Amino acid sequence: MSGRFAGRRAVVTGGASGIGAATARRLAAEGAEVLVVDVAAESAAEASETMPEIVHLRGDVSAEETWERIAAWGRVDVLVSNAAVVEVAPAHETSLESWNRQLGVGLTAAFLGARRLLPPMAATGGAVVITSSVHAVVGLPGHPAYAAAKGGLTALTRQLAVEYGPAVRVNCVLPGPVMTPAWDRVDERGRAGSVRATVLGRFGAPEEVAAVIAFLASDEASFVTGACLTADGGWSIVKDSA
Ligand SMILES: NC(=O)c1ccc[n+]([C@@H]2O[C@H](COP(=O)([O-])OP(=O)(O)OC[C@H]3O[C@@H](n4cnc5c(N)ncnc54)[C@H](O)[C@@H]3O)[C@@H](O)[C@H]2O)c1
Repeated sequence: MSGRFAGRRAVVTGGASGIGAATARRLAAEGAEVLVVDVAAESAAEASETMPEIVHLRGDVSAEETWERIAAWGRVDVLVSNAAVVEVAPAHETSLESWNRQLGVGLTAAFLGARRLLPPMAATGGAVVITSSVHAVVGLPGHPAYAAAKGGLTALTRQLAVEYGPAVRVNCVLPGPVMTPAWDRVDERGRAGSVRATVLGRFGAPEEVAAVIAFLASDEASFVTGACLTADGGWSIVKDSA
């Protein structure tokens, strides 16, 4: 299996932690040169000591100028738009700043990345994978901005797939509960509830989502574009009506 990304250059946003970090490691292990873009420079620096194929750029992906710096890195064959911010509150307690922050990092950043990187990628060929969420298709209290961003990403995926195919394939992954630092703010009760809501009876590991992202980014998914692939341990197919 090694070598699917030999000679390829990949950008992973939000790659200093969790699913993004696992994806950067997976792509690098399979031969890619990887540029991780993240606001968290300190964790990025730690990671870079362990894998020389991964380089790090400190930057806010919701800012246009960050994408100019990413483009300056050179040719990009694989773009993984993965960074997100979640701030839990019902709509009436969500400030406009919070809404804009969550939409900015969680949706606009994917647009900015596509706008800057897809025209050159269309000339050479490539693949985009966007990290959406089960929140795109299931309502959970306290996530109006996050869910709007994630739903927007599924529509954006289809749109970009149509506009930049056949040279560029664009797909997204919808993870369910995956044990990453994003869960630090959730107490034991909340975690247990999420695990109970899966068919597989456990959290996913970041590496299990990274494997799906790597598949979608690889030539093995050569006839897959505009797809949203759920990786949630069965979380979204069960409804307990007892
Ligand atoms: N963990 C889950 O259960 C789960 C479930 C569904 C979807 N997701 C999605 O998976 C993706 C990764 O989540 P995770 O759980 O690995 O989270 P995480 O918190 O471990 O990692 C997110 C990373 O994004 C970075 N980031 C935040 N704002 C940024 C910005 N403005 N610019 C650049 N980087 C920024 C953070 O510094 C962090 O390193 C997100 O899109 C998230 O919505 C996660």
